[in-house]
Order: sequence, then structure tokens, then C-alpha cells
Amino acid sequence: MKKLSMFVVLAGLLSNCELTNYVPPVTSQMAIVNKGQHVELTTLNEGRALFVRRCIECHTLPAVWRYSADDWPEIVDSMAHRASLKAAERDAIVAYIRAVRSQR
Ligand code: HEC
Repeated sequence: MKKLSMFVVLAGLLSNCELTNYVPPVTSQMAIVNKGQHVELTTLNEGRALFVRRCIECHTLPAVWRYSADDWPEIVDSMAHRASLKAAERDAIVAYIRAVRSQR
């Protein structure tokens, strides 16, 4: 029983790390992206949460760096109906991805 719970904890830690590499947490520097345009941190956090929860329902989470910042809006648009995203949710996801991309 003890061994099993240890395994569960370890597995949880490992998958958290993986998720952090894949989907970087929001930082305050991310609030300023794309030519000094300011984005609310709450929007970015919401975008990250939505991305992690809704874009993993049918396939593995696509890596943020796999597509260019200019391609992402179109990709999220094309998936918006599948993930039943409201316009604001779609915008938040795009804002988060663009913010992450602007950090590199
Ligand atoms: C209801 C299921 C579903 C949800 C939810 C969903 N997708 Fe998809 N996604 C698919 C299917 C099916 C494909 C492959 C067929 C296609 O490209 O149309 C796909 C393909 C993709 C691709 C690969 C496209 C390519 O050209 O190679 C990306 C990137 C992607 N999805 C991103 C997302 C993102 C971002 C979200 C969240 C906003 C999301 N998906 C939510 C079903 C879904």
C-alpha cells in the first residue's frame, strides 16, 4: 500500500515537470508581448489553463514551439469549435501562446 502511494506521488511529480517544460508557467515578463502591447496576467493564466485542459481532450497537447506565433491563431481558430471555445477563451489561449513564444 505504501509503495503504491509512493509511486502515485512520483508519477504525479514527473508528469508535472513534463507539463511545466511543455507549457511554461505564466511570468510577469510575459505580460508585455508583441511590440510592448500589454496583456493581463489573468488572461494569460486563463489561456494556459484552457490550453492544458481543453486542447488535450482528443490528442496529446501540441507543443507551443512546434508552430510559429503567426500560425497559432489560425490553428486555435480551427480547433475552437471542437474545443467549444468562446471567443474570449480562444483569445486567451492565443495570447498565452504568443506570450510564451515571445520569451524565446
Ligand atoms: C474534439 C476534439 C479536439 C479538441 C478538443 C481539440 N482538437 Fe486539435 N485536433 C483534433 C483532430 C481530430 C485533429 C486532426 C485532424 C485535423 O487536423 O483536422 C487535430 C489536430 C490538431 C493539430 C495538428 C494540426 C496540423 O495541421 O497538423 C493541432 C496543432 C491541434 N489539433 C491543436 C489543438 C488546440 C490548440 C486545441 C485547443 C484549443 C485542440 N487542438 C483541441 C481534435 C481536437
